[in-house]
Amino acid sequence: MVDLIYIDPPFNTGKRQTRRNVKHVRDDGGDHTGFQGQRYRSEVGESTGYGDAFEDFRGFLEPRLIEAHRVLKSTGSFFLHIDYREVHYAKVWLDGIFGRDHFQNEIIWAYDYGGRSKSRWPAKHDNILWYTKDAKDFTFHHDAMDRIPYMAPGLVGKEKAARGKTPTDVWWHTICSPTGKEKTGYATQKPLGVLKRFINVHTSPGDLVLDFFAGSGTTGHAAGELDRHFWLVDENPQATQIMRERLSGFELEFEDRSDGA
Ligand SMILES: C[S@@+](CC[C@H](N)C(=O)[O-])C[C@H]1O[C@@H](n2cnc3c(N)ncnc32)[C@H](O)[C@@H]1O
Repeated sequence: MVDLIYIDPPFNTGKRQTRRNVKHVRDDGGDHTGFQGQRYRSEVGESTGYGDAFEDFRGFLEPRLIEAHRVLKSTGSFFLHIDYREVHYAKVWLDGIFGRDHFQNEIIWAYDYGGRSKSRWPAKHDNILWYTKDAKDFTFHHDAMDRIPYMAPGLVGKEKAARGKTPTDVWWHTICSPTGKEKTGYATQKPLGVLKRFINVHTSPGDLVLDFFAGSGTTGHAAGELDRHFWLVDENPQATQIMRERLSGFELEFEDRSDGA
């Protein structure tokens, strides 16, 4: 049985999610200047991607939600990472599977990156629904929450301002920067900081964490660094290749089910 399940399924955007990997290589004849005034050129690598459209999103997701509920421990938590296009439908399906009183929070992950629409409010958040297997008895380590700065530190006194405050259900966290040190080049890679917060608060060291839409393996990376076991699944060979490289510092076992076994 599993202590925590986090899934970030294809969002049904109808698009093909792709990201081109761009490397900056030292080259005296390069066309841009970088660190310490040295010249660099950009090299575009292979693009990574997968299809993100479903004729029948419910038919795709619901059987997987039912299985997630089945394999979750009695004190376990389930997180569905989705966005405004599908969250209201998914909430109704999950209420049906877990029970409405087993719904605990809707976490809003807010970021501020990319283009801004001029015809409506730019959508800059994702929605993460949290359900527990038991409505009342579940793992929640309040003391393991990281602390964030007060918005008006001058109003709370020096000691409190230095300690920071605990987060709410709205999490401001930057996206995984395409040039940052965390990036793997995988389209839709989620930030390690968001996953670490879930894993720290909702599991204990030695627990088992499952992600069956694992992509670049962010959930495994966060779990491994926090001394939890992890179990990752993805159907895309590019994702499994990236995971192998990214998680090579942990003890890993691979199973290939591409033959449908
Ligand atoms: C939004 S991405 C996950 C990104 C991931 N959270 C990360 O941080 O890299 C969704 C993933 O679901 C995978 N996927 C789509 N359909 C699947 C299926 N039927 N079984 C397993 N994985 C699937 C895609 O290959 C993709 O890697």
